[in-house]
Formats: sequence, structure tokens, C-alpha cells
Amino acid sequence: MKNLEGKTTLVSGAADGLGEAIAARLASEGARVAVLDRSAEAIERSSSRPEMSGVHFEQVDLSDADRITAAMTRLQEAGFAFDILINNAGGSLHTPRAFVEETDEDWARVMDLNVTAAVRLTRAVIPGMVERGYGRIINLGSKAGRYGSLFTGANYVAAKGAVQSMTLQLAQEFGPHGVTCNAVCPGAILTPRVERLLSERQSPEERAGVLASIPVRRHGRVEDVAAAVAFFASDEAGFITGQLLDVNGGQGMAS
Ligand SMILES: NC(=O)c1ccc[n+]([C@@H]2O[C@H](COP(=O)([O-])OP(=O)(O)OC[C@H]3O[C@@H](n4cnc5c(N)ncnc54)[C@H](O)[C@@H]3O)[C@@H](O)[C@H]2O)c1
Repeated sequence: MKNLEGKTTLVSGAADGLGEAIAARLASEGARVAVLDRSAEAIERSSSRPEMSGVHFEQVDLSDADRITAAMTRLQEAGFAFDILINNAGGSLHTPRAFVEETDEDWARVMDLNVTAAVRLTRAVIPGMVERGYGRIINLGSKAGRYGSLFTGANYVAAKGAVQSMTLQLAQEFGPHGVTCNAVCPGAILTPRVERLLSERQSPEERAGVLASIPVRRHGRVEDVAAAVAFFASDEAGFITGQLLDVNGGQGMAS
């Protein structure tokens, strides 16, 4: 039997990047998977990939409360009752790194997608998890949220810090109901988007310096993150909650 046979999973922002790899990994382990994503183009591309066959896609802008409510209603009507939630949608949205250049609007956009969307999705699925006495919530934190960043700004670092702290509190509150909550905190993962951004913002010498600061001497892959998420999502991880797991090749460590 596959690890996640019989489990139903929701993954946000998952028609591309890390989320897509997570959705594909959970589907390969037997889970029934639903994906929420804003981009029609990404959904079209992703839904044609063999590893995403059988995955259900809903197009929704997760910065919009009403659209989240409507999407969750559609999913409920389609018979989805979620055992596992992956709050993956997020990012720095390419807002300025310099603190004084980040506007209120930049802060609001980054907070809305990284924090508020996760709050709304969690609020939508957690009553069902409590009723059934079982749930796995996995949030995407970041090395930036754990240790700060030379690359993204204070708004993103603060947003991921909030997601990580919320993880601890959800673990406290819902542990007695059979629901665990953990966070996976990746370092730079070389998706095509990050690859493009790094080559725009760093010289080859700077890039070599970054690589030398990673003990395993390679950048992360989407599969590294998907594997960590799959572990937290499994039945076997039932005694682990409120944990922030660094997936960064040792570039940031805490004891
Ligand atoms: N890529 C990295 O190196 C890295 C490192 C640390 C943490 N993370 C975190 O991992 C998560 C995924 O990162 P990524 O780089 O794969 O993301 P990404 O920017 O590549 O986006 C992935 C998907 O999210 C969708 N999306 C974006 N905005 C949306 C919205 N408003 N509503 C619905 N869908 C939306 C996009 O259409 C895309 O398909 C984020 O939370 C990010 O902060 C990423």
C-alpha cells in the first residue's frame, strides 16, 4: 500500500515551482490531490504533465478572500474533505529588498499571499479535520524567515516568520484533536524563476561564494522540499508537531 492511499490533500499555489513538485509527490504516494493556483497558463501546462494526472485544479487568486471561499465551496461540492493541507503559495513577489523602498502596498501584498491566504485556507479545512480527529498541516516557511536574507526584503522575512510562529500555535491548539502542524523552511531552491532572479541579481563570483557557504555544495531541488513535506504528511510523522524543518543543505543551522 502506498503511504498516502485514502488521504485527500489540498496544495496552494501548486501549478508550478515547489508546490507542483509537492502535489506530484503526494499524488505519487496515493493521495487524492487538489491544487489551487491563480495562473490559467500554469494550470494548463501542469495539468498536462503525466505526474499530475488525476490532480484536480481550481483557478483562484489566493489574495482574495471571496474567491477563496468560492473555491473551497466548489471543492466541498465536488466531494473533497481534506486530511492534509499544504500552505505553499507565497513568495517575496519581487518587491524591493531595501527596507525603506518597500511601500505599504508591497507589505500588504506579501502579507496577504504568504500569511493571510494560509490563515484563510487553514480556517476553511481545520473544522473538518477536528471533526474527523485527523489532520496534517504543513506550511512553507523559508530560510529567510529563520535567519534573515541577503536577497529578499523585510516584508518577506517577516511574513515567513509569521507563518513559522503560527505553525507552533496551531500545533498547540489542534494537537489534542489529532491535527499536527509543521513547517518546511527551504533555502534557495533552483526553480527556473529563482535561477533567473539569481542570475539577474548576483555576479558569477557572488554565486560561487553562495555555493561555498552551503555545506553539501549544491543548491536545493524541488524534490528535496517535496520529500520533507511528504514525511510530515505521512501517518508515521504523527508524533512530530510544531517543528520547523530546515531544508537548506546546511546553509543555516540551529541547535
Ligand atoms: N523557490 C525558493 O527558492 C523558495 C525558498 C524558500 C521558500 N519558498 C517558498 O515556497 C513556496 C513556493 O515557492 P515557489 O518559488 O515555488 O513559488 P512561485 O513563485 O514559483 O509560484 C508557484 C505558484 O504559485 C502561484 N501563485 C502565485 N500567486 C498566487 C496567488 N495570488 N494565488 C494563487 N496562486 C498564486 C503561481 O501561479 C505559481 O503557479 C512559497 O511559499 C515560497 O515563499 C521558496
